[in-house]
Amino acid sequence: MNNIYAIVAMTKKTNSIGIDGHMLYHLKDDLKYFKETTMDHAIICGRKTYFSFPKRPLPGRKNIILTRSFDSYEGAFTLHSKDEVLEYAKNNPDEKVFICGGDNVYKQFMDVVSKLYITEIDEEEPVIADSYFPEVDPEIWEVESASAYVKEDGAPKYRFMVYSRK
Ligand SMILES: NC(=O)c1ccc[n+]([C@@H]2O[C@H](COP(=O)([O-])OP(=O)(O)OC[C@H]3O[C@@H](n4cnc5c(N)ncnc54)[C@H](OP(=O)(O)O)[C@@H]3O)[C@@H](O)[C@H]2O)c1
Repeated sequence: MNNIYAIVAMTKKTNSIGIDGHMLYHLKDDLKYFKETTMDHAIICGRKTYFSFPKRPLPGRKNIILTRSFDSYEGAFTLHSKDEVLEYAKNNPDEKVFICGGDNVYKQFMDVVSKLYITEIDEEEPVIADSYFPEVDPEIWEVESASAYVKEDGAPKYRFMVYSRK
């Protein structure tokens, strides 16, 4: 669908995105990029990812938690299946819907997202991780834009890539 996108920060060599429920790196400019890119739009987060945010809901965005639970959460909406997310995106064609992870949620939505906003972290050594982004198949995805590399103290260099479906 053309209003559903994925946004992720992952390592270049192994597509690693997290360990023990946490992000792998704290990248200041990446957090800023995530905020700017998703501001005023809808963000869909798996329940574990949503509750890993130190402050929630994220301000200025429609926070939507994907969960099978029917509990309600202050400041956030809930959807309960992939079909409900697709229905939501279809009924709100002027809204951008960002799939924000985690691991399992990215895998489920890879066949319906039309763009990938990937912060590509150029790690020197493979990192230890337990969560991964799916393969970005060059037969399916082409690079739309690539930023210059960003270098922050204590972290590998990284850059912002946007891929669109061929
Ligand atoms: N690097 C990045 O950009 C990035 C971004 C996001 C997350 N992460 C990392 O990813 C890891 C978390 O990923 P995860 O896969 O363990 O957890 P997750 O995807 O955040 O959350 C999983 C939960 O989402 C709900 N869910 C998933 N699919 C659903 C569906 N089809 N229908 C209804 N509910 C559904 C379920 O919640 P209920 O159990 O409540 O039913 C499930 O237990 C963490 O390490 C996090 O830091 C990294």
